[in-house]
Amino acid sequence: MASKKGKEPNVGASRRDDRENDARPVDGGIQGDDARYDRALRPKSFADYIGQEKHKDNLRVFVEAAKRRGEPLDHLLLSGPPGLGKTTLAQILAAEMGVALHMTNGPVVEHKGALAGLLTKLGPNDILFIDEIHRLNPIVEESLYPALEDFQIDVVTGEGAFSSSIQIPISPFTLVGATTRTGLLTGPLLSRFGHAVRLDFYPPEELARIVLRSAELLAVPISKGAAHAIAVRSRGTPRVANRLLRRVRDFAEVLGNGAIDELSVATASKRLDVDDKGFDEMDRRLLKVILDDYDGGPVGVETLAAALGEPRDTIEDVYEPYLLQQGFIGRTPRGRIATKRAYEHFGLKRPSGQGILQADLFSEGDPEEP
Ligand SMILES: Nc1ncnc2c1ncn2[C@@H]1O[C@H](COP(=O)(O)OP(=O)(O)OP(=O)(O)O)[C@@H](O)[C@H]1O
Ligand SMILES: [Mg+2]
Repeated sequence: MASKKGKEPNVGASRRDDRENDARPVDGGIQGDDARYDRALRPKSFADYIGQEKHKDNLRVFVEAAKRRGEPLDHLLLSGPPGLGKTTLAQILAAEMGVALHMTNGPVVEHKGALAGLLTKLGPNDILFIDEIHRLNPIVEESLYPALEDFQIDVVTGEGAFSSSIQIPISPFTLVGATTRTGLLTGPLLSRFGHAVRLDFYPPEELARIVLRSAELLAVPISKGAAHAIAVRSRGTPRVANRLLRRVRDFAEVLGNGAIDELSVATASKRLDVDDKGFDEMDRRLLKVILDDYDGGPVGVETLAAALGEPRDTIEDVYEPYLLQQGFIGRTPRGRIATKRAYEHFGLKRPSGQGILQADLFSEGDPEEP
């Protein structure tokens, strides 16, 4: 986890903004009317939050223990690809603790004064949620440490030779940090979190339950088979599942009688150019570069980025994680390779002698190829 530390360039302030105009139906990031629906569909308690059972069980215990002692929860880091439910979990934790949630975003906290302003507003045991915490300004980050450790902030008064530092106490609180890139967090910040929860892509059964729940909230009739068909196309991501549900609803309302069945899902997917694995044009291009242009790889990520005309970060954050998790591509010390599944998916025959040794593949947390 920490092995990537310092190796990667900072992604800069405009990663998400760069992609503002992309309208990939299967992108886990937030787009279009997602925010409005996110609010309407967001689970409000652990009971409503589907899946991630292991994490939920632990968090329930931490909440119960903290409440019994009248103390704040230990600082918590939530990580995982976009749209898996980090913000949702932070909101649930505040609700279950019965405390206020104060939300901000790493790059928005521009200077120490802004952070001090946030920290002094916190009530006892409140939760401060910092989204994209890997993008905190380093000076701000450093001034956060005494707050996390001793619930106090250092304030410098006076100038030059007459300046001195005084400590101002703040309420005991919990920092909940969210990040899509744990590897970009500094060691000192990482070490100050008591718990780290790494959210994983959801299996289709859980996504189908999420789709059924959302359909009920939206009052759209849907068959179980249709919910499953949406689930398998959602790339393990609740936000994508909810978005596809809304798109399919449009087709079902305009072209059918409003009820969603497997045929409406198939029609909508075809129109949206999303295949039965949830892959779209961009995934197919990525796989085809590896398969056709580089005979199955290995291809360095920079080369892939150049061939696709996309920044390296976008390849690594947006396109690759699901393809890697599903075993369509693999990471080796010399770059990305297409796996047997990728050949099969495209109906291609794998050249003989190109079997991949499992030992060649990088596992989670291994250093990245240069
Ligand atoms: N476990 C879950 N059960 C039901 N719905 C969920 C679950 N997790 C997420 N969702 C739905 O997916 C939407 C996106 O989740 P959320 O905004 O919490 O993701 P995120 O991880 O914070 O994404 P980002 O990295 O873009 O901030 C939510 O509005 C919610 O409706
Ligand atoms: Mg979020």
